[in-house]
Amino acid sequence: MKPIVVALPQGDVGLDECDCPLDMDRFLTGRGEWEVEIGFGKGRYLLRRAESEPESRFLGIEIASKYQRILARRARRRQLPNLASVRGEATLVLTSLLPRQFARVVHVYFPDPWPKAKHNRRRLFDPASLDLVLDLLTPEGELCFATDYLEYGRLVEELLRSYPGLEVERHVGEWPDGARTNYEAKYIEEGREILRLVARPTPSRADLHPRGHEELLVGYASGSDEDLSAEVRPGTA
Ligand SMILES: C[S@@+](CC[C@H](N)C(=O)[O-])C[C@H]1O[C@@H](n2cnc3c(N)ncnc32)[C@H](O)[C@@H]1O
Repeated sequence: MKPIVVALPQGDVGLDECDCPLDMDRFLTGRGEWEVEIGFGKGRYLLRRAESEPESRFLGIEIASKYQRILARRARRRQLPNLASVRGEATLVLTSLLPRQFARVVHVYFPDPWPKAKHNRRRLFDPASLDLVLDLLTPEGELCFATDYLEYGRLVEELLRSYPGLEVERHVGEWPDGARTNYEAKYIEEGREILRLVARPTPSRADLHPRGHEELLVGYASGSDEDLSAEVRPGTA
């Protein structure tokens, strides 16, 4: 498995140079709220947000090294002090590296749908890994999700609605700020149907019960995690 790499504004660092879980305030200075995007591709959304909202802090998680390098290069060229990224498999990063409940918004756009039944367990949104994603959110936080794989989207919606203490709504039409990612821009142009969801913990949010982490991680322990991603949806991110 490839090493996890953390790209900060001032340069890359390895895990051996970081506290685990990461001390987020040391990681990117400032007092701004955090937003996290999982599977950011070429990072269009993170770059735009970080540039236009210097008071907020943004963290991207991406399995593909080449995409992390693209984002880090662009962020440094634009001198964005409020954008960092982690190269690594998301469930591994969430399990072993990130603190709980620090993000006001978590964004997941067009995650690989793993359409073959034998690969379904690699989906970011299955009952075990969803706990990890939701556990990033502060009590006032929200999860934004979009997919063009409607069948997967409906399963995610069902799963979110079955969660105690979560309010879930379908976002009808485009986001107020338009297409957020490259995939979204492409699919809007093609007229493809997109399912968008927003989920927020309610005050009665139940404790989450991370389940099956070991099982999840075993799936990635053999071989290259990046190869697994390339298998599902070749093409540009
Ligand atoms: C279909 S692309 C969508 C990219 C971007 N979100 C967009 O909407 O344009 C899925 C992205 O998720 C990344 N990815 C896939 N599996 C991942 C995982 N387990 N952990 C982190 N990133 C992952 C891929 O490398 C790819 O960049």
